[in-house]
Amino acid sequence: MAKLKVGVLISGRGSNLQALIDACEDESYPAEIALVLSNVADAAGLKRAEAKKIPTKVIDHKAYEDREGFEDAMQEALTAAGVELICLAGFMRLLTEGFVGRWRDRLINIHPSLLPAFRGLNVHDRVLEYGARFSGCTVHFVRAAVDDGPIIAQAVVPVHQDDDADSLAARILTHEHRVYPLVVRLIAQSRVRVTDDLVTVRDPQAPMGTMINPAPE
Ligand code: GRF
Repeated sequence: MAKLKVGVLISGRGSNLQALIDACEDESYPAEIALVLSNVADAAGLKRAEAKKIPTKVIDHKAYEDREGFEDAMQEALTAAGVELICLAGFMRLLTEGFVGRWRDRLINIHPSLLPAFRGLNVHDRVLEYGARFSGCTVHFVRAAVDDGPIIAQAVVPVHQDDDADSLAARILTHEHRVYPLVVRLIAQSRVRVTDDLVTVRDPQAPMGTMINPAPE
């Protein structure tokens, strides 16, 4: 069966891109990365793709007068590569309603909190300041508002009392690297449907058990 062609948009480190690259190495994985697009020329993630001979392209937003011009260039590159699903993976540009609309339900993002809590930047600092006992990550379809849209999957991690933003980020990141490839696989298998802005997954495996933090003694 033909594999789903994925375009990954990055601006930096690219550890989630790496998780997708690793997943795609498995022959039975139903998706492949057709293009890695970065708006930052020296994004470390580009090297990860080049190492695996995955096509890359840099489109520097600063070279364009406005967002639309930048997005038109991205659109052209994505279409030329035959991309069917876009994964935002640490892509640090806001997208216009026009672009998001064009890719409706074919554009996903990973965010390091349990949405709708803690949208935006400096997530982990804010989680710690708030005293939340759990955090995690969310993969969702993208809508025009920032970090908004139908949720596909989430992973929950406990917040430890001695956490700082870095230790919490690291704990969550490990799970991001599991959840993003899982979601791309579910989409490639046509098991994800959006109806009235709610996602249903065909044959989901619901986890058992409850987490309480602090744990009952
Ligand atoms: C991740 O924490 C992701 O959730 C957020 O940006 C970070 C990107 O990290 N959107 P990386 O570039 O994938 O390592």
